[in-house]
Amino acid sequence: MRIVYVIGTRPNFVKTAPVIAAMRARCPDGRHVIVHTGQHYDRAMSEVFFEELGVPAPDHMLEVGSGTHAVQTARTMERLEPVIMTEEPDLLVVPGDVNSTLAAVLVASKLGVPVAHVESGLRSFDMTMPEEINRIVADRFSEYLFMHSEEAVGNLRAEGIPEERMHMVGNTMIDTLVALRDRIDAADSPGKLGVAPGDYTLVTLHRPALVDGPLLGETVARLAALSEQMPVVFPVHPRTRKMMEAAGGGGEAPNLLLSEPLGYIDFLSLVAGAGAVLTDSGGIQEETTFLGIPCFTLRDNTERPVTIDLGTNELLGLDPAAIATVPERLAARPSTPPQPPPLWDGHAAERVAEVLLPDYVDAARPAIASA
Ligand code: UD1
Repeated sequence: MRIVYVIGTRPNFVKTAPVIAAMRARCPDGRHVIVHTGQHYDRAMSEVFFEELGVPAPDHMLEVGSGTHAVQTARTMERLEPVIMTEEPDLLVVPGDVNSTLAAVLVASKLGVPVAHVESGLRSFDMTMPEEINRIVADRFSEYLFMHSEEAVGNLRAEGIPEERMHMVGNTMIDTLVALRDRIDAADSPGKLGVAPGDYTLVTLHRPALVDGPLLGETVARLAALSEQMPVVFPVHPRTRKMMEAAGGGGEAPNLLLSEPLGYIDFLSLVAGAGAVLTDSGGIQEETTFLGIPCFTLRDNTERPVTIDLGTNELLGLDPAAIATVPERLAARPSTPPQPPPLWDGHAAERVAEVLLPDYVDAARPAIASA
């Protein structure tokens, strides 16, 4: 078996690490080729994740970098096509909904290489989100669709995707969390920042709808106001950092702690210790749901409604003024968190490998934590 894995952005390293580990464990004699598109390229957005998650060094670096959607997608396609033609894989595995995903699916499909899409079936029903377009294309052209929630199954059925392509396996992002849980618990990131567990709000913001326009200034001002009631820890995404600098700074308040982007273990340690999380990220809605940490999402919609249904996540809308309501909403939350969704159990990637490699058996239980 020759399998190519295409990854390129921070969240997708987390989603794919356990899949690569499980596939290698099940088929150690296969050729497992890792392609890093370079959509994310800063050390803190890329290398740190390979080191912490124990992903082998990429076999191919496409160094695509940033650009408009067309430029980024086209550059990835141009540079990926010769790799696929040389490697001649039996299968291409790609996660998520970013431009690297879209490019990989198009290149592989046109070369007749079957695609396995991890984290399939998510829909925000908001076509202004570039990720929604990427999701629909990826699912339409994939041979194997791996879902993590019942809503995803329903979305794909509604689009007429044949049942035999759909595989409910659970959440590979949670596999990584489960595998690295001991190191996350030992990291004590809150202590290193001088904040008490359960006592602070952790913030992440990076979506263009929030940070590329006029809402960013008010958002930062609202965070500064919130920090007068409880400390606010805010690791700042490079995109957001650039926009804050272009807007002339802001965010100076004694209890508003801004930092560079963090590695996986330090960041998850902050999530696990947070009293509340305020975000516009997709993956963090899932990680907080698994950990039972109250999450507030600064968006009008979510492609992850299971997090809302369970009560761990609440949509605040694309509305910075809603940040002021976090303390009262937090007080209204039940003290006992719900159980995580079914199959968010640390073994999703093994189920992916069972589907993709039915003629092989597990040589050993994969352990990304041992890296
Ligand atoms: C992508 C995904 C988005 C995902 C996000 C996670 C698409 C359509 N969007 O956005 O779904 O939530 O990543 O971060 O694929 N930058 C750096 N260093 C880096 C990476 C980015 O400085 O390593 C800067 C770029 O110059 C640019 C901005 O950050 O200004 C873009 O960052 P981000 O929004 O993460 O990247 P996208 O690839 O656009």
